[in-house]
Amino acid sequence: MSVRIAPSILSADFARLAEAVAAVERAGADLLHVDVMDGHFVPNLTVGMPVVAALKRVTRLPLDVHLMIEEPDRYLEAFVDAGAAMITVHREVLPHLHRTLTHIRRLGARAGVAINPATPVSSVQDVVAEMDHLLVMSVNPGFGGQTFIAHALHKIAEAREMLAGASVAIEVDGGVDPGNAAALTRAGAGILVAGASIFATPDPAAALHALRAAAETSR
Ligand code: DX5
Ligand code: ZN
Repeated sequence: MSVRIAPSILSADFARLAEAVAAVERAGADLLHVDVMDGHFVPNLTVGMPVVAALKRVTRLPLDVHLMIEEPDRYLEAFVDAGAAMITVHREVLPHLHRTLTHIRRLGARAGVAINPATPVSSVQDVVAEMDHLLVMSVNPGFGGQTFIAHALHKIAEAREMLAGASVAIEVDGGVDPGNAAALTRAGAGILVAGASIFATPDPAAALHALRAAAETSR
């Protein structure tokens, strides 16, 4: 499968969210990435279920919900009910990750695990069979528009090796732009999340095309 692009609405104009989403949907986005933050796991607050439900009403793009929250188990059902097609939880907050991933799948969503820059790829080895995607953070989560941490490239390559033969997509999130997209795809990333490099530009549709073109030069 060719690389999938998941624009992150974090850098969009929240007063005009439907328009921002329509623009990237028309431009060929594959997924819509929604960043949920709780002010505990990460030092920022963003949106929750009502915004996911509102997005669900205005787009056909699968909603890729990234939970940067403590105790995500409490909210899984509510996010799936709101319309999440994919739910990603963080390894760092879940001692019983296997149980959480199984729960997400049972609710009918695709289950993913995110690992922070300091969390090793090997920490998710035991749940490869329960995962549909592995999200490798290439910034410390909490904010859009941060600088890409190049070490993520090594982690993606390592993840690709660990996941050989498994049907688990590798997603990369943080500081993704046309300058690093080819290297990320070459290393093994199958889903590129991009916030600022799409929405903090004058023309998000053109930015999405540029990102895809850059990602595909590696193929
Ligand atoms: C960061 C979020 C990202 C963020 C990416 O904590 O998980 O999804 O929106 O934004 P950019 O692409 O601007 O780094
Ligand atoms: Zn994210």
